[in-house]
Amino acid sequence: MTDKIHYRRDGDIAVLRIANPPVNALSQEVRAGLAAGMDRAEADTGVRAVLIVGDGRAFIAGADIREFGKPPQEPHLPDLCNRIEASPLIVVASLHGVSLGGGLEVALSANYRIAQPAARVGLPEVHLGLIPGAGGTQRLPRICGAKDAIGVITSGRHLGAPEALALGIIDEITENDPEEAGLLWTGSLLAEGAARRPVSELPGPAPLDWDAVYDEVLKKGRGQISPAAAVRAVQASSELPFIEGLAEERRIFNDLMQTDQRKGMIHAFFAERQVSSLPELKDVPARQVEEIGVVGGGTMGAGIATAALLAGLRVTLLETTQETAEAAGARIAGNVAGALKRGKITAEQKSRMLSEALLCDTRDAALSDADLVIEAVFEDMDIKREVFGRLDAVCKPGAVLATNTSYLDVNEIAAATSRPSDVIGLHFFSPAHVMKLLEVVVADKTADDVTATGFALGKRLGKTAVRSGVCEGFIGNRLLNTYRSAADHMVLDGASPFQIDSALQDFGFAMGPFAVSDLAGLDIAWAMRKRRAASRDPRDRVGRYADKLCEAGHFGQKTGEGFYLYEKDRRGGTANPRVIDLIEAERHDRGITPRSFTDAEIQRRYMAAMVNEGAKVLGEGIAGRPLDVDMVLIFGYGFPRYRGGPMKWADMTGLPEVLADIDRFAAEDAYFWSAAPLLRELVAQGRTFDDLNRDA
Ligand code: 3HC
Ligand code: NAI
Repeated sequence: MTDKIHYRRDGDIAVLRIANPPVNALSQEVRAGLAAGMDRAEADTGVRAVLIVGDGRAFIAGADIREFGKPPQEPHLPDLCNRIEASPLIVVASLHGVSLGGGLEVALSANYRIAQPAARVGLPEVHLGLIPGAGGTQRLPRICGAKDAIGVITSGRHLGAPEALALGIIDEITENDPEEAGLLWTGSLLAEGAARRPVSELPGPAPLDWDAVYDEVLKKGRGQISPAAAVRAVQASSELPFIEGLAEERRIFNDLMQTDQRKGMIHAFFAERQVSSLPELKDVPARQVEEIGVVGGGTMGAGIATAALLAGLRVTLLETTQETAEAAGARIAGNVAGALKRGKITAEQKSRMLSEALLCDTRDAALSDADLVIEAVFEDMDIKREVFGRLDAVCKPGAVLATNTSYLDVNEIAAATSRPSDVIGLHFFSPAHVMKLLEVVVADKTADDVTATGFALGKRLGKTAVRSGVCEGFIGNRLLNTYRSAADHMVLDGASPFQIDSALQDFGFAMGPFAVSDLAGLDIAWAMRKRRAASRDPRDRVGRYADKLCEAGHFGQKTGEGFYLYEKDRRGGTANPRVIDLIEAERHDRGITPRSFTDAEIQRRYMAAMVNEGAKVLGEGIAGRPLDVDMVLIFGYGFPRYRGGPMKWADMTGLPEVLADIDRFAAEDAYFWSAAPLLRELVAQGRTFDDLNRDA
């Protein structure tokens, strides 16, 4: 026994209570303790059944992820599950909180399972680049059939107790304390003389068209391999005896354990939990926020107001005229109706949000009670400074004044007030009530408790908040501008936007950069190019073909034409031949002889640009840790989570290789491709970005 497992007798039932806070992960000590507990129960005269329960907030959240990548230690989890299942005693698992991954696999090795009404179960290993590795792919299909098991395993989703009951994963939903309910249930099983019921002895599931299911899952995974691999493991449960199926599952699990996808996803798992907890803010209390002001109710303002309403905050939205205020109200109502349709809120909550918690107004004085105001007016420094001057006059002392600017200097905006220490950037992403990323932009004079308030608000709104310093575009848009330029350069030199989009989708991005531009509206970047034209360095290569599209009135999806042609009521677009003509004409004018690019080269250049700018942002202190850059790209820019983020990708690719690429590209265009000093330094020292994460 270990002190992670508490053993006690209740009549003829032995209770094994797992106590490994915070979530009872199956560390070596827990596994050893459970095995020893089973031994003790079997040797304990008069014991006829074993009840397994979890202490604290969960039954078991799964294998201990911190042990992955280290040499495995006995007892191994699959052996422990088999050992529990082979016991001559009746074994019952009483579930509460979550039972995930190895936690559910332990429960599936018991003969019977009961669960609290709010309990959730699932096999989320695919989100870590793995498949269930302790019999989950063999036992679950024997309970609920191959189709449902594949649905559960390849999605990794959590199932509520009623759904688990319907699928036969649990036998009953029970109220009260898990141990009390478990003892009652186990007692009645013994009284009835219920038999042992090992899942492994059930027949394997009926076959499916495995290859078709495999192809479908592979396609849906956008390059992620673990969900498709899980299909093959479930196939083994149908085609092989249990023990051989288990061996096949183990083989696939071990293979996946060696992959970069597993490393990338586990990096993302821990980074997601680390990113919003800044050591320097540990003891800094956030300011109280219950009432939010939003200035400007366009795309972003309406989305931000919606996010705040959905989180239970009161919102006052300020617009310039009665008409624009009404339009903002209508936009918010549309967003809230969408949340109702998706089952996120009830009809009653919707009407309360819109009638009691929201006020759309045109008078500055309406913001006098707001605890925190977020400005989301036009992207224009003069207008923003004017708005902040007015906020300074009307807002109560201690109110946090935030700007949602995408690119502008937050220090300059703060200087328009008499209280720059209360000013911060809160950079949301569109649609703001859906997108998970929030950049918390800390300006020179921002007070620590204002930064803490930004993070606390992010948490309340369900966002992944990342700290950024002030620079043009902060972390995300600054990187975007650089890798987007790398894509434009490739177009000038011979690649087509369509090949680039397709190569980057193959890399795992949700969309390619040109399709993204069409979605965002080509006019936005066009306006920026015009603004910057006067101060642009002549060595900066900027394509003109996108300007030509805009000059002809083609702004992307919203006008039906951009890099792609869009038809009403049809998803996605088809390549626009006019774009190729424009590009060819420009190459001709610039005297460029086009060359061909392989998909691999496109991916390498795009990634090199992203990583290099990421290293610059880190070197300048704009981002504190490489994992901050990784989280921005994953949560705001469609970067494939299974690659861990650009900095993790660079580590796994090898920093010397990435630097060599950049130096090679610099031989063609030294203005654009200047290697980040931090990258050079890390290569010289033989260190990685992960080393910097560990140092932080
Ligand atoms: N192993 C190790 N640590 C874990 C863990 C795990 N399986 N699950 C959670 N933790 C840690 C978190 O890192 C966090 O640590 P911190 O406080 O030091 O940051 C702490 O537990 C609390 O976690 P959260 O902050 O995420 O708390 P929430 O309440 O928001 O969520 C949870 C709890 C739903 C359990 C969530 O943490 C989660 O989804 N965990 C992962 C579950 C999972 O993937 N299980 C499968 C593991 S793989 C497996 O079992 C393989 C097997 O098939 C062989
Ligand atoms: P938008 O043009 O959709 O909305 C701006 C709104 O501000 C309009 O409704 C306008 O009436 C209102 N407004 C203008 N001046 C005002 C004033 N003085 N007082 C009150 N209201 C005023 O613009 P959008 O897209 O919502 O952008 C707003 C801000 O958010 C900009 O700074 C933009 O850079 C930033 N942003 C935009 C993103 C996007 O994807 N659209 C993403 C992240 C940030």
